[in-house]
Amino acid sequence: MSVCVPIFLAVYNVAFVCAFLHSCSNTVDAYFATESPIAKDKLLANIGRNGSESSGAKSGIVIASPSTNPNYVYTWTRDSALVFQTIIDQYTLGLDTSLRSQIDNYVAAQKIIQQVSNPSGTVSTGGLGEPKFNIDETAFTGAWGRPQRDGPALRANALITWANFLLTQGNSSYVSVTLWPIIKLDLDYVSANWNQTTFDLWEEVSSSSFFTTAVQHRALRQGIALATAIGQADVVSGYTTQAANILCFLQSYWNSGGYMTANTGGGRSGKDANTVLTSIHTFDAAAGCDSVTFQPCSDRALSNLLTYINAFRIYAINSGIAANQGLATGRYPEDSYFGGNPWYLATLAVAEQLYDALIVWKQQGSIDVTALSQPFFANLSPGIAIGTYPSSSATFTTLTAAVKEYADSFVAVVAKYTPSGGGLSEQYSRSNGAPTSAADLTWSYAALLTANGARNGMVPTSWGAKGLTVPTTCQRGGSGGGGGTVAVSFNVQATTVFGENIYVTGSVDGLANWSPDNALLLSADSYPIWKITVNLPASTSIQYKYIRKFNGAVTWESDPNRQFTTPASGSFTPNDVWR
Ligand SMILES: *[C@@H]1O[C@H](CO)[C@@H](O)[C@H](O)[C@H]1NC(C)=O
Ligand SMILES: *[C@@H]1O[C@H](CO)[C@@H](O)[C@H](O)[C@H]1NC(C)=O
Ligand SMILES: *[C@@H]1O[C@H](CO)[C@@H](O)[C@H](O)[C@H]1NC(C)=O
Repeated sequence: MSVCVPIFLAVYNVAFVCAFLHSCSNTVDAYFATESPIAKDKLLANIGRNGSESSGAKSGIVIASPSTNPNYVYTWTRDSALVFQTIIDQYTLGLDTSLRSQIDNYVAAQKIIQQVSNPSGTVSTGGLGEPKFNIDETAFTGAWGRPQRDGPALRANALITWANFLLTQGNSSYVSVTLWPIIKLDLDYVSANWNQTTFDLWEEVSSSSFFTTAVQHRALRQGIALATAIGQADVVSGYTTQAANILCFLQSYWNSGGYMTANTGGGRSGKDANTVLTSIHTFDAAAGCDSVTFQPCSDRALSNLLTYINAFRIYAINSGIAANQGLATGRYPEDSYFGGNPWYLATLAVAEQLYDALIVWKQQGSIDVTALSQPFFANLSPGIAIGTYPSSSATFTTLTAAVKEYADSFVAVVAKYTPSGGGLSEQYSRSNGAPTSAADLTWSYAALLTANGARNGMVPTSWGAKGLTVPTTCQRGGSGGGGGTVAVSFNVQATTVFGENIYVTGSVDGLANWSPDNALLLSADSYPIWKITVNLPASTSIQYKYIRKFNGAVTWESDPNRQFTTPASGSFTPNDVWR
């Protein structure tokens, strides 16, 4: 590490350098040159079973962070998929050929994890939506915000990227035999469940969530292309119907304030890194500046970005920073977790969106300044008029230089608050920039690597965003595209003592996702038959159990879980006896 010391001294004074020379470029070059190999090492250190910080993790399992306070020594489906999307991109784009065994290990680990019964259900009853597992591949059974329906979609996206690469290598048997069954489980889950509520990527709000919807859409589009390529035509029609439905619903997050509302619930402003992460994780350079899929250079995504950035002027470390300079940004302005600080991965996502945008503007040879994106551009180039600026124009040169400088200035903020040694925690303090919350967050390192990749012009493979059109009316999801719900009337014969009540809970939202606290109370009007009627998703396999509550004590029915599949329409009445 001794060779790094002089560079770190330079990095340490980055704010001064940027302000003084009016360019962050050299500083950011130096920062990435030093930090990227550190980030790669530290990212791999958190992957089992050989990673130096991964003690106890099974092979291919990504630990969110080795921190035990707060305790992040678990494996999240979302974080793992984003980390492996980064590793797979690095391998398939030829940047690091040493990563193949890691990818093989990830595939093997996810095949196991998918089959682990957990509080969200089994592999066929909703268990794929379980957010996190123990690092020895057993279920985490504590209370948590579940389900989180972005996980299966993100895992499918990573594995489809891998499958597409292997097809170009003539390795179609591995794709069909090993990868497709794993991918298909996730895609079937997305296709059947996208229209159910979910906890957001920050695990706090249960509603619909923009990031989740967008990555689900990407997963089905990529899945359709892969299925077609390997002769799995039977899924194509169902996925195509649901992809169109999701794309339709995706548009509804746009609000008249000129940004995407991150969640339909939660009671917040809706300004959230959720949306910036969406833009970079559904980037498809082939789609140009398409606003329907919220591409990084689209006017919607740029308008959204400016709104998001300005929401973080509330942090003390941002005070006095000019409007055209990078800020420390976090998850959302109302955040209070660990004091509600900036996150490294959020600030890096801003830079990455802008680097992605630059890739496309240069590729297409022009920039469109629309009424919607004009405020974003005017912030960097005062007085800029609405119009199309071809790459031959001086304005194109000015704008691309200004956007590059702006992007670099966000990385410079991250550089300024990277401690010597290069470790990236989850957050850095809003008052003094000191690292806080979980140390060595694996996702922070992945974010550093993908931002650097985008800055170097790295273009991920297309997922089929080009030329999509939005259906004129939005259909709800569900099997066969008709979707909807059926009325399920639970009847259970149960003898109780005075003050004791019978509840039901199970594997879907409508049954409170196995939560004894939120389980549904049955009526004793027909005692000893207890009854409740609930609307549940049609054509869905559902598991459930009855529970008793008496003086605060909860008693579950004995195993196994009860199970039925709802009909496509109409109603359904399970008649049960307490066991
Ligand atoms: C982990 O270590 C074992 C034993 O040294 C080795 O065989 C294996 O290839 C390593 N796995 C990875 C992913 O490096
Ligand atoms: C196909 O890829 C898998 C996964 O990396 C590998 O184990 C296998 O050897 C490859 N097969 C061929 C024929 O290259
Ligand atoms: C389901 O889809 C419909 C139609 O697009 C939409 O109005 C509704 O909000 C969606 N619900 C969820 C939970 O995604």
